[in-house]
Amino acid sequence: MLARAFVAVAAALLPAAANAACGKVIIDNDWSGSASYTSLLELLGANCTILGITSTIGNLYAYQGAAHILRFLEIAGIDYIPVYIGANEPLINTVERSAAWQSVFGAFSWDGAFQPDNATLDAEGSDPTGNNPFEITPIPEGLPTMKWQNESAVDFMIAMARMYPGEVEIVAAGAMTTVALAIKQDPYFAGNVKKISIQGGYVDVNLKQTDPTPSNSTFTNDDIYADFNFFIDPEAAKVVVNAPFIETVIAGQVSIPYFVTPEIFNQTISVVTPITSNLSTYWAGSIGTPLWDEITAGVLAYPEIITKSRQVYFDVDVAYGSIFYGRSFVAIAPYQPANSRNVTFIEQINFSGFLSNFIPALQGNYTTKRW
Ligand SMILES: *[C@@H]1O[C@H](CO)[C@@H](O)[C@H](O)[C@H]1NC(C)=O
Ligand SMILES: *[C@@H]1O[C@H](CO)[C@@H](O)[C@H](O)[C@H]1NC(C)=O
Ligand SMILES: *[C@@H]1O[C@H](CO)[C@@H](O)[C@H](O)[C@H]1NC(C)=O
Ligand SMILES: *[C@@H]1O[C@H](CO)[C@@H](O)[C@H](O)[C@H]1NC(C)=O
Ligand SMILES: *[C@@H]1O[C@H](CO)[C@@H](O)[C@H](O)[C@H]1NC(C)=O
Ligand SMILES: *[C@@H]1O[C@H](CO)[C@@H](O)[C@H](O)[C@H]1NC(C)=O
Ligand SMILES: *[C@@H]1O[C@H](CO)[C@@H](O)[C@H](O)[C@H]1NC(C)=O
Ligand SMILES: *[C@@H]1O[C@H](CO)[C@@H](O)[C@H](O)[C@H]1NC(C)=O
Ligand SMILES: *[C@@H]1O[C@H](CO)[C@@H](O)[C@H](O)[C@H]1NC(C)=O
Repeated sequence: MLARAFVAVAAALLPAAANAACGKVIIDNDWSGSASYTSLLELLGANCTILGITSTIGNLYAYQGAAHILRFLEIAGIDYIPVYIGANEPLINTVERSAAWQSVFGAFSWDGAFQPDNATLDAEGSDPTGNNPFEITPIPEGLPTMKWQNESAVDFMIAMARMYPGEVEIVAAGAMTTVALAIKQDPYFAGNVKKISIQGGYVDVNLKQTDPTPSNSTFTNDDIYADFNFFIDPEAAKVVVNAPFIETVIAGQVSIPYFVTPEIFNQTISVVTPITSNLSTYWAGSIGTPLWDEITAGVLAYPEIITKSRQVYFDVDVAYGSIFYGRSFVAIAPYQPANSRNVTFIEQINFSGFLSNFIPALQGNYTTKRW
């Protein structure tokens, strides 16, 4: 059965179609682990023009995330993409406020940057936690010598949307805080952005969170189906989904069933490059986790993989005194919440089509700028 699955993956590796659709992209993420750069490789493989990389709170604080992604750029020999620091804290949420909410409405299985400090995890390079958003601890791949830009990620996003009105696309796969700040700082920002693809906004997953059947994962279902990017900053998530982007794509939920399998992992590292050598070490821990961020980037880089989606009004609950705080809601007219907007909610993708682009992208050589 495993051998069969391997053949299926190999068969999917037809040459990737040239994709004229991928334009100017800003990739915003909580660069949370030593292999969190897979979604960036995907955009590079699709020949997107990466205007810049932004680092935002989520699984960890933005400064530590920037260290991870800068070090990756060094390993990959990429010296032409600037890295910017975005929001290092949620708009309103804090460790204490989240803990108080959880004490009433139930604990999260994952607290990301809000985890208590843990010296063991720090020493393993699993990132600093606790209440020190500015600490940068050693990471397994080594700390970078490259530096982030001095301009803030918020100012950078605004400048790009003004410079290229109607052209910029954003992959937002950490907390929505940096994008929310850009929206509020520049009233023209969202209307000038062609598309935002969001990792977050799960609906109809509550029952699955209680499913006792393991999902081939080292993580529990309550964790896999937890909409953490929205939970850590619900107010920012609402600002973003209510903003008048030319198109808002909700790519979170569709990504959950698709895991990094041993077959995908083996196929990727079978081509040896400095990048895949690092993946063979650092990506191994992701086997059994959904391709959350990768699919969020994929539907933007090669939208032809979207096989089913619908336009729905979309909103996020920001009532702190509610068990639904941070959770998403969909509606059709005329029953939609005031100020909510139509989004493209992706329901289904062609996963073999995704893999036929994704795996070669991880095996690419990006030392030379392609734009
Ligand atoms: C990306 O550009 C390179 C040339 O720089 C080309 O060989 C490759 O086929 C292109 N890939 C896609 C997906 O368009
Ligand atoms: C710190 O993290 C390690 C590794 O996950 C875990 O085993 C340990 O229980 C944690 N310590 C505390 C005090 O939470
Ligand atoms: C940021 O500013 C400092 C102080 O002016 C400067 O030394 C450094 O080179 C700047 N960093 C970048 C990436 O431009
Ligand atoms: C989980 O594993 C089973 C058996 O190996 C397989 O049939 C199924 O497709 C896997 N599911 C996912 C989501 O990977
Ligand atoms: C992946 O490679 C490892 C190491 O070579 C091997 O043990 C494992 O069986 C392979 N798994 C699959 C599904 O091919
Ligand atoms: C990652 O790549 C760099 C650059 O090629 C190399 O020095 C380092 O040993 C690699 N790390 C691992 C764990 O493969
Ligand atoms: C929102 O989407 C629905 C369903 O496709 C459509 O009927 C409606 O016209 C859309 N509304 C706006 C304002 O685009
Ligand atoms: C899915 O992608 C594969 C590989 O690119 C392609 O052969 C197949 O026709 C696609 N299927 C659909 C339904 O688009
Ligand atoms: C990547 O491409 C550059 C030329 O653009 C070349 O010098 C380098 O050797 C290549 N690296 C690998 C690992 O193939």
